[in-house]
Amino acid sequence: MVLSKYFLFATLVVALVLGDDDNPTGFLSIDCGSLNSSYVDETTGFTYFSDKGFTKTGENREIADAYKVQTNEQQFWNVRSFSEGIRNCYTLKPTLGDQGTRYMIRARFMYGNYDNENLAPTFDLYLGVDFWDTVLTQYAWNKVNKEIIFFPKSDDHLYVCLVNTGHGIPFISALELRPWNNETYVSETGSQQLFGRYDLNPAINQVMRYKEDAYDRVWLAFTENIWIPINTTEGKNITKNIYQLPSPVMSTAYEPNRTTGNLGLIINPSNSSAPFLFYFYFHFAEIQELQKNESREFNIFVNGKFSHGPFVPSYLVTNTVISTSSETTSDGEIHIWLNRTQNSTQPPLLNALEIYLLTDLSQQETNQADVNAIQNIKSLYGVTKNWQGDPCAPKAFLWDGLDCSYGSNSSPRIISLNLSSSGLNGVISPYFADLTMLQALDLSNNSLSGTVPEFLANLSSLRTLNLKENNLNGPVPPALLERSNNGLSLSVDANVMGNQTTNQTSSSPENWCRKNKFVVPLVASIGAFFLHFV
Ligand SMILES: *[C@@H]1O[C@H](CO)[C@@H](O)[C@H](O)[C@H]1NC(C)=O
Ligand SMILES: *[C@@H]1O[C@H](CO)[C@@H](O)[C@H](O)[C@H]1NC(C)=O
Ligand SMILES: *[C@@H]1O[C@H](CO)[C@@H](O)[C@H](O)[C@H]1NC(C)=O
Ligand SMILES: *[C@@H]1O[C@H](CO)[C@@H](O)[C@H](O)[C@H]1NC(C)=O
Ligand SMILES: *[C@@H]1O[C@H](CO)[C@@H](O)[C@H](O)[C@H]1NC(C)=O
Ligand SMILES: *[C@@H]1O[C@H](CO)[C@@H](O)[C@H](O)[C@H]1NC(C)=O
Ligand SMILES: *[C@@H]1O[C@H](CO)[C@@H](O)[C@H](O)[C@H]1NC(C)=O
Ligand SMILES: *[C@@H]1O[C@H](CO)[C@@H](O)[C@H](O)[C@H]1NC(C)=O
Ligand SMILES: *[C@@H]1O[C@H](CO)[C@@H](O)[C@H](O)[C@H]1NC(C)=O
Ligand SMILES: *[C@@H]1O[C@H](CO)[C@@H](O)[C@H](O)[C@H]1NC(C)=O
Ligand SMILES: *[C@@H]1O[C@H](CO)[C@@H](O)[C@H](O)[C@H]1NC(C)=O
Ligand SMILES: *[C@@H]1O[C@H](CO)[C@@H](O)[C@H](O)[C@H]1NC(C)=O
Repeated sequence: MVLSKYFLFATLVVALVLGDDDNPTGFLSIDCGSLNSSYVDETTGFTYFSDKGFTKTGENREIADAYKVQTNEQQFWNVRSFSEGIRNCYTLKPTLGDQGTRYMIRARFMYGNYDNENLAPTFDLYLGVDFWDTVLTQYAWNKVNKEIIFFPKSDDHLYVCLVNTGHGIPFISALELRPWNNETYVSETGSQQLFGRYDLNPAINQVMRYKEDAYDRVWLAFTENIWIPINTTEGKNITKNIYQLPSPVMSTAYEPNRTTGNLGLIINPSNSSAPFLFYFYFHFAEIQELQKNESREFNIFVNGKFSHGPFVPSYLVTNTVISTSSETTSDGEIHIWLNRTQNSTQPPLLNALEIYLLTDLSQQETNQADVNAIQNIKSLYGVTKNWQGDPCAPKAFLWDGLDCSYGSNSSPRIISLNLSSSGLNGVISPYFADLTMLQALDLSNNSLSGTVPEFLANLSSLRTLNLKENNLNGPVPPALLERSNNGLSLSVDANVMGNQTTNQTSSSPENWCRKNKFVVPLVASIGAFFLHFV
C-alpha cells in the first residue's frame, strides 16, 4: 500500500453527518465565493458566512454543474477566484481574541472547472507572512484540504493569502478556523501541518467530521483490500483519550493478511530535498475480545529502526502512539512496519492514522504600530493599491509604494512610503507621524488640502519629504523649516513656501534628482513651479 498525498483523492467521499445549527465557541466557517450572506450547513450544522467581509478582491464564481452534483458539501459549489494581482489575502480575526489560544485552520479547494478552461491550477498558500503549502488541485473533481495547527502571532488579525505562481489562477472554496487544545499535536518548535488523516476500514464509507469529531477534523475513509477488516461487536463504544477520536473511527480497524503477518505502510513524502520532519500518530484500540490463550503485541519500526514497543492495545480504550521520521529510505520513501512480537498470537492492528509535517512559521510580521498606522492610512484615504496581508513580509510581496528595513531578529519596519499620484483627498493625517521609522515620505501629486502639519517634524528619521502638487496652504511650520535647515530634503509648492526662507542654497533640479532619487517633473504644473531646498 502506498499512502501518498494523492492517494486520498481516490477515497474522498461525501459527509452526511447531521447536526443542529449551534456553532461551538470560536468556530468560524467561511464559504468563499458564496452568494448567500450566511446559511446553516446541513452536513455539520455550522453557520457558514460568505467571504464578503473577509477579502476585498477576487470574483465569485460557480463550479460546473457536472461537479456540483458530485458533492453535497455546499461550500464547494462556489469559489472565489483571484485573476488580478500576485498575492490576494483574507483577513480573519482569531475569534476568541485571546493570544495564546491554538487554532487549527483549514483551507478547502475544489476547482470544479468553474472557469470552463479545464485547467486545474497550482498556486501557493501563505499563512500570514509564512509559506504554508503549495495547492496542487490536479483534477476538477478533486477536493484539496490544507490544514495546520498553530498559534496566531497576533490576536488582531490572521491573513490567509493565495499567491499566483504562474500556474493558473488561484481560487478557494472554504476557510474554517477552529480553536484547538494546547496538548495535542505539539512540537517543540514549529507547527504541524496535516499530510494525511485516515479512518482505516471505515464503518460507513463517508467522510467523518463534526459532531462525531469534536474538533471537526475531517477523517478520510481508507479502504484497502489486501488487509483484513475487523470491527467491534455492535453497540460497543471506544473510550476516548486526549486526542478525542470519534468512536466510529476507532471501532473499526485493519489487520494484515495472516500470510504476511505484519502490517506495512509506505509513505512518499514528495520530492523536496529540504529537511523535513514527519509526525505519525497511530491510534490503537483493541476491538476484539481475545481469549485467555490469545495475545496481541507488536513493535513499530520506522525505516527499519525500532520506534515503539512492545505495544499491547487496550480493550475498547484509545491509545495514541507517536513516531517521527526525518529520513527516507534510499528509494525516497518512508517505510513503517507494525511487526508482531514472537509471543503474540494475533497480528497487529491499526484503527486510525494521522500524518503531520513540521512546518516553520517563524517569519517576523511587520511591527504592529506600523501595521496599525498604514492600515489607518489605507482606510482613511481609501488607497486602492493592492495592499493586502502583511505590509513588509514576506519581502517578495512588499506592498506597492513601501520600503521596509529587515532585521534578523526583529520585526520589519516601514522606512519609506510613496503615495505619489494616488488620488489622496483631505488633510494630511496624523497617522503618517505614527510611522516613526519613516525616512522618506512622498505625497506629491494628490489633492491634499489644509496646512502642512507640524507633526511631520516629529519623524526623526525623515530625510526626504515631498508634498508638491497638492492644494496645501503655507506656511511651513517652523519645526519643519528647522528640520529642512538640518538635512531634511523638503519639497513643497511655491505658494506653501511663500516668503519663508532657509539658509540652504537651492540646487539645480538635475543635481537634486541625482542626490535624492526623486523623479523631477519635466514640466512643472501651473501654479506650482519647481522649488527645492537642499
Ligand atoms: C443559499 O442557501 C440556501 C440554503 O442552503 C440554498 O438553498 C440556496 O440555494 C443558497 N443560495 C445561493 C444563491 O447560494
Ligand atoms: C494549556 O492551557 C492551559 C489552560 O487552558 C494552561 O493551564 C496550560 O499551562 C497550557 N499548557 C501548555 C503546555 O501551554
Ligand atoms: C462487526 O463484525 C461482525 C462480524 O465479525 C458483524 O457480524 C457485525 O455486524 C459487525 N458490526 C458492525 C457494527 O459493523
Ligand atoms: C455508546 O455511545 C452512544 C452515543 O454516545 C450511546 O448512546 C450508547 O449508549 C453508548 N453505548 C454504550 C454501550 O456505552
Ligand atoms: C494474503 O497475501 C497473500 C500474498 O500477498 C495473497 O496471496 C493472499 O491472497 C492474501 N490473502 C487474502 C485473504 O487477502
Ligand atoms: C517529483 O519531481 C518530478 C520532477 O521534478 C516530477 O515530475 C514529479 O511530479 C514530482 N513528484 C511529486 C510527488 O511531487
Ligand atoms: C485458544 O484456545 C481455544 C480453545 O479454548 C482454541 O480453540 C484456540 O485455537 C486457541 N488459540 C490459540 C492461539 O492457541
Ligand atoms: C517487519 O516485518 C517485515 C515484513 O514481515 C519485514 O520485512 C521486516 O524486516 C520486519 N522488520 C523488523 C525490524 O523486524
Ligand atoms: C513469551 O511468553 C513466555 C511464556 O508466556 C514468557 O515466559 C516470555 O517471557 C515471553 N517473551 C517475551 C519476549 O515476552
Ligand atoms: C542652517 O542654520 C542652522 C541653524 O539654524 C545651522 O545649524 C545649520 O548649520 C545651517 N545650515 C547651513 C547649510 O548653513
Ligand atoms: C511674509 O509675508 C507675511 C504676509 O504674507 C508678512 O506678514 C511678513 O512680514 C513677510 N515676511 C517677510 C520676511 O517678508
Ligand atoms: C514615488 O513614485 C513615483 C511613481 O509613482 C515616482 O515617480 C517617484 O520617484 C517616487 N518617489 C520616491 C521618493 O521614490
